[in-house]
Order: sequence, then C-alpha cells, then structure tokens
Amino acid sequence: MQTVSLCGSTGSIGQSACRILGQAQHLTCKTLIFGRNEAKAREQIALLRPSYAGCLEKETALRIKREFSFLKEVFYGEGLTEAASLPSDIFVSAVSGSAGTAFSFAALKGARRLALANKETLVMAGQIFMKEALQRGVSVYPVDSEHNALYQCLQGEERENVESLVLTASGGPFRGFGAEELARVTPAQALKHPTWSMGKKITIDSATMANKGLEIIEASCLFSFPEERIEVVVHPQSIIHSMVRMRDGSLKALLGEPDMRLPLAYAFDYPRRERYGWGHCDLTRLGPLTFEAPDEKAFPALPLARAALHGGGILPLVYNRVNEEAVKAFLAGKIPFTGIAGSIERYLGEYSGNNRIPGSVEEVEETDKEIYQRIRNDLELT
Ligand SMILES: NC(=O)c1ccc[n+]([C@@H]2O[C@H](COP(=O)([O-])OP(=O)(O)OC[C@H]3O[C@@H](n4cnc5c(N)ncnc54)[C@H](OP(=O)(O)O)[C@@H]3O)[C@@H](O)[C@H]2O)c1
Repeated sequence: MQTVSLCGSTGSIGQSACRILGQAQHLTCKTLIFGRNEAKAREQIALLRPSYAGCLEKETALRIKREFSFLKEVFYGEGLTEAASLPSDIFVSAVSGSAGTAFSFAALKGARRLALANKETLVMAGQIFMKEALQRGVSVYPVDSEHNALYQCLQGEERENVESLVLTASGGPFRGFGAEELARVTPAQALKHPTWSMGKKITIDSATMANKGLEIIEASCLFSFPEERIEVVVHPQSIIHSMVRMRDGSLKALLGEPDMRLPLAYAFDYPRRERYGWGHCDLTRLGPLTFEAPDEKAFPALPLARAALHGGGILPLVYNRVNEEAVKAFLAGKIPFTGIAGSIERYLGEYSGNNRIPGSVEEVEETDKEIYQRIRNDLELT
C-alpha cells in the first residue's frame, strides 16, 4: 500500500487524482490539502478518509475536524506547509499558480516521489528545486501531460540521439484569431477551452499560449534542453501529448485521450502500469490529426517565454509573476486579453539586463514579492 498526500485536492487535477484514489486498491490518501472549497473537500474526505487535512481558513479547519473524527489533525493557514511536509510515499503537487511552489518545496521534506502538476515550481525555481530533490532522493515525475509524454518518450534513449523536444499545443479557443479580434475577447470566451477541462488560470494561459511558454521553461528545466531545442507545434485534437525528435529523423510520440488521470497514474505507478479501465483511445474514431505552426505574432506570450528563458536570471520569474497578475486583471475586466502579453513584454524589457540569479527558495520568494510590488499599481491590483 502506497500513501498519497494530495495538495490542491479540490481543483481540476486534484479531482482527477481523487478519482484514481477512489478506485485504486494499492493507494491510500494520507493527507488532503485544499484552499477554500469546503463542500468539495467534505465529499473527498468522506470518500478517502485521510489521516490529515489542511485548508486556508481556520474556521473551515475547525468545522472539518469536528465533523470527521477519524482526522488526526487539520492544519490551516501558515500550518499548511507543515501538512505538505508530512511523510508520504507519493505527493501530488496540484495547487494552482505561484502559491504551489512553497508546497512543492515542503513536499521534498517528507515525500519519496513527487507527482508534479504545478509547473510554476519549475518556472520560478527549477534548478534549485531539482537539485534539492536529488539531494533528498525524491523522484520527480511530471504530471503536465506534455512533459509526462516527453518523460515517457525519453525512456531508454541516449541523450546524444535526441535532437529536440516537440511540445504540442491545442492552440486554445482563439486559434486562427488575429490581433484585432483578440483585443475584444471576453473572459467568458477565453474560459472555454476546446479540448481540456482545467482550472481558470491555466485555461486563460492556454488561450494566450503563455501556458506553452511556461511549458518551454518547464521542459528546459526538467530535461536540461536549451530553448532552441524545444519546438512547439499546434495540434488542435490534443491526442499526441508531445514528441521527441531523434537524430535519425524519427519522431517518437505519446498518444492518448486528453484525460489527466493518465499522466497522474503514470506518476503514481511507474514503472508498473495498472489497468484502471479508463483512457482507452479508439484510433478508428479519432478522425484526422492535424498540425500547424503556432502564430507567434497573434500570440506573443509564446516567443516572450523563449526570450525570458534565453535571457535567464530572474526573467522567467518576471514572466511568471507578471503573467499571473495580468491574468487576474483580465478576469476582473481591468485589462484586455492582449494586455496580458503586453504586460509581460513591458516588464521583461524593464528587467532585462538584470543578471541576478536567486540561489535559494527564500531568495526566489523575495524576488517574486519585489516584482509583485513593482507591477501591482500598473495592473490596478491594489
Ligand atoms: N488542470 C489541468 O488539466 C492541468 C494540466 C497540466 C498542469 N496543470 C497545473 O496543475 C496546477 C493545478 O491546476 P488546476 O487546473 O488543477 O487548478 P485549479 O482547478 O484552479 O485548482 C487549484 C487547487 O489549488 C487550491 N489552492 C489554490 N490556492 C491555494 C493556496 N494558497 N493554498 C492551498 N490550496 C490552494 C485550490 O483550492 P480551492 O479550490 O479549494 O480554493 C484547488 O484545490 C497548476 O499549476 C496547473 O498549471 C493543470
């Protein structure tokens, strides 16, 4: 029996993970951490009967502790990172956005294996994180479907035989739109993803293609490939999750239904493969699989991520924080859709030439706060 700590349980990835835990005989939930969605968390606690829980609000924590007597402790507020560092065999890091980074780091203290969905961890502090994971003997398995596919395609391949990594992108809801049309799109339109059902932040990131930008940085950190050896191809059906281009001209791809339980199960069970009874991909019913180059002019968040990665230093941090705050501003109706990439471009320009490289997670957090202080007024976040 493997114990699982699930962080971000009430979100899109968290709920997929709960569905696996609900049916897997060999996995048991030890700790369940969520933010504010008490109703969903109650269902999950009743179903999975974890030993520990954690949430943001004290009042919620006290109510839950009273209701579920089998819980040994319910953590809240600042205590949440302590909950994340409790020992477990597998830790699922699935809090959304930059807030997830602290949980991923806390998990390294108690987990043996990390199923990493939170890509911001790698964008903000990738090298520090991977180094600490290695030092502590924690195996990191990417859950982001593209990176999970790359991880699988790279198995058994000599690095010198790999020419490049090929990330696939759905193209989001505005594929084919020009800059003028994009300036008028609303949050409701941007929140309708054509193939994946995900949390709000990543759904907007998919619409701007900042998600693919973050994924280029994530892939570079996970697999130690430079930006120029990471390609992006738009594949609207989201069946090929990513590919590896080999030196001999072959392309190795991972195919599957767009279902996040597949990469989660891989991260839980590797090297075994369990028969869960879902995820069957009927090739005869798929229809055509198509590919096209991304429109980098209409979606400048993509080339801007390459520039941030190439520039190095704190630029990936700037990209990440400005994007996250700009997404909030867009959802609140304060800036237009095109203002998201516009804000990223502006601040990457302002910070370019800043060669500081944070050497610890504390320095990353401090720098991230500084960037936030600098941008908040412009994005009317006060
Ligand atoms: N969704 C996908 O298909 C997908 C695919 C690839 C990668 N990812 C990555 O996975 C991560 C999660 O994405 P998602 O789509 O599942 O997000 P989501 O649906 O928005 O869920 C976020 C989860 O994090 C919790 N949370 C947020 N802030 C928190 C905080 N400060 N403390 C504790 N819990 C907090 C939320 O709790 P409450 O809702 O209870 O407040 C919720 O459980 C992101 O980094 C995303 O980029 C997601």
